[in-house]
Amino acid sequence: MRALDLKDVRFKYQGSSTWALDNVSLEIEKGEFVTILGANGSGKSTICMLANGLIPHAIQGNLEGIVRIFGFDVKEHKVADFTTKVGMVFQEPESQLFCMSVEEEVAFGPENLAVPRDEIRERVEWALELVGMKGYNDRSPFSLSGGEKQRVAIAAALSMRPEMLVLDEPAYALDPIGRIELYSVLRSLKEKHGMTVLLAERDAEEAAAFSDRLVLMKGGRILGSGPPRLMLRNPQDLRAIGVNPPQVAEVAALLNTRLMRSKFSFLNVNEAEKAIVDEVLALKPGGRQ
Ligand SMILES: Nc1ncnc2c1ncn2[C@@H]1O[C@H](COP(=O)(O)OP(=O)(O)OP(=O)(O)O)[C@@H](O)[C@H]1O
Ligand SMILES: [Mg+2]
Repeated sequence: MRALDLKDVRFKYQGSSTWALDNVSLEIEKGEFVTILGANGSGKSTICMLANGLIPHAIQGNLEGIVRIFGFDVKEHKVADFTTKVGMVFQEPESQLFCMSVEEEVAFGPENLAVPRDEIRERVEWALELVGMKGYNDRSPFSLSGGEKQRVAIAAALSMRPEMLVLDEPAYALDPIGRIELYSVLRSLKEKHGMTVLLAERDAEEAAAFSDRLVLMKGGRILGSGPPRLMLRNPQDLRAIGVNPPQVAEVAALLNTRLMRSKFSFLNVNEAEKAIVDEVLALKPGGRQ
């Protein structure tokens, strides 16, 4: 059973004359870390809202095709059936935080499910620890930085013990260090806890370095999907969907063109440095020492 199965999905928002998603098929395995990349209006948020049942239940429209979340057909289940399976984190952490303290915020979901007090306390500590916010229990969410708020929003989703996290441009308001920290937290949730992670992003830089798979979207359609190394081989594929390729991918592509081969493929600066140093050493008289 997969975490998410979209088969020939089309979706039109109520009152709209165009399809926001047009013939989308996407399969996400359990434990996979998948990032959807696309420009404004490409359909990323619409996929996120399909992945947790908000579409078609809370957001009306015309849905065609099959959507299965952990094997359950969305049309045959309520949103509430998915709240313990899928945790959702939105672009603006402020839109999700409304309690007086971090602890209340993270406890809110399980309290609504009438989880016993002791277990709630355990879940809060567990979730805050996972996102690196241990000890922030009594802080007001409004006194936190953007990155900290976003982590509390993730902890609040985690306290429901979901099997999949869906995050819609969660790194949007973060500075470069905050972005890397956020992606590291998500990656470790996958590595250590087998969490399935589905992200929507407009920026390929960290997505390329941290994801198992990139999905390229344009105009409500999926144009390609595959491991980052494969998807970044031709940086113009990303530019064609309105997304800036990571600079290291551009360097790799330029070197390959210049040297007339397809040897280089970098996902991060460390890989680039190592490959280039190896190359230079191999060219030195006497070869590698
Ligand atoms: N509530 C709505 N009613 C009507 N049309 C909508 C609604 N929400 C989104 N759309 C349309 O659906 C299409 C896909 O929008 P979606 O929000 O999924 O894109 P996105 O990739 O998340 O864009 P962004 O990067 O701006 O967040 C767009 O054409 C958009 O105008
Ligand atoms: Mg969006």
